[in-house]
Amino acid sequence: MREPSPGAAALADVEPVPGVAKPDPILIVDHVRRTFGGLVAVDVEHLELPRGAITSLIGPNGAGKTTFFNLMTGFDVADEGAGTFDGHELRKIPAHKVSNYGMVRTFQLTKALTRLTVMENMKLGAREQRGERLLLAPWAPLWQEQEQEIEARAEELLVRFKMDHMRDEMAGTLSGGQRKLLEMARALMVEPIMVMLDEPMAGVNPALTQSLLEHVKDLPHMGMSVLFVEHDMDVVMDISDWVVVMAEGRIIAEGPPEVVARNEEVIDAYIGKGHGDESRFTPVPLGAAAVADTAVREEAPPESDEGAGELASGGPDDGSGGAASDAQEGPS
Ligand SMILES: Nc1ncnc2c1ncn2[C@@H]1O[C@H](COP(=O)(O)OP(=O)(O)O)[C@@H](O)[C@H]1O
Ligand SMILES: [Mg+2]
Repeated sequence: MREPSPGAAALADVEPVPGVAKPDPILIVDHVRRTFGGLVAVDVEHLELPRGAITSLIGPNGAGKTTFFNLMTGFDVADEGAGTFDGHELRKIPAHKVSNYGMVRTFQLTKALTRLTVMENMKLGAREQRGERLLLAPWAPLWQEQEQEIEARAEELLVRFKMDHMRDEMAGTLSGGQRKLLEMARALMVEPIMVMLDEPMAGVNPALTQSLLEHVKDLPHMGMSVLFVEHDMDVVMDISDWVVVMAEGRIIAEGPPEVVARNEEVIDAYIGKGHGDESRFTPVPLGAAAVADTAVREEAPPESDEGAGELASGGPDDGSGGAASDAQEGPS
């Protein structure tokens, strides 16, 4: 059994009911509503996310999970309502500012830029998240110093994610799973206090999922809080300190994983059988990616790449693709 997250103990006495208060919430959401035409995508009355813990957000496709992520991270604006993150008001705050508060997210479709190297992706991550100013001010006296700091941090993260040997490779040559790892490493460039991961396992070869999971489990021990969207209930049970269930935009249940898993009504009605199959291994955009243009493919690498890429990189001379070695080794 894994070492519990630092924030897990505080959850022991929290009642498993939707909207329940947490002892030390990092994110508080109030009356957030987002509609698309007549469709209510998100309608969350109240939700608190614990600090220093891993919370999984589960629910069927179309439940509103990604929209909720977008709202919380400033990539979308709610019709009404808002929240606070670590004491900061979130209402109408743009994404770069939210990330300055210390909240970063990854995307359901990986955003790694295929024509940049792994290292360039990492560095760009730092700049993107900090806004344009750094890019526009290369003459600033601090420029070089910042550049060196960024490079050092990128190197440290690549080592931790066992991708340092790939630093000069084009991201486009990585397998889908390795791109997910890269995206996660890139998100950590800004030393966030909260990381929101939208289906980081989707489309990832099983050989790499364990490695990804181990990295996620480490985040609370490195001072971060995690919100994690995942379909696979085994993964959810393994990784979560707390589970929030969303359906049709609403929070319909929350609690410790074993409590939520016992809630058969929730599982039957909303998670259901076969749910994992459809979403774990055949993410929606894949069919489209096969016929799409290059730009689209960069964001949504075709699934068919996946196995081949993973195998190719998992050879004996390659430390990264070797899931076994990844999984056993803790991060330094
Ligand atoms: N930009 C958009 N325009 C119109 N409808 C959208 C948009 N984004 C999401 N939706 C709809 O909102 C609902 C919630 O979607 P989403 O948040 O992606 O769910 P999940 O991530 O849980 O699968 C779905 O019915 C989806 O079709
Ligand atoms: Mg989604």
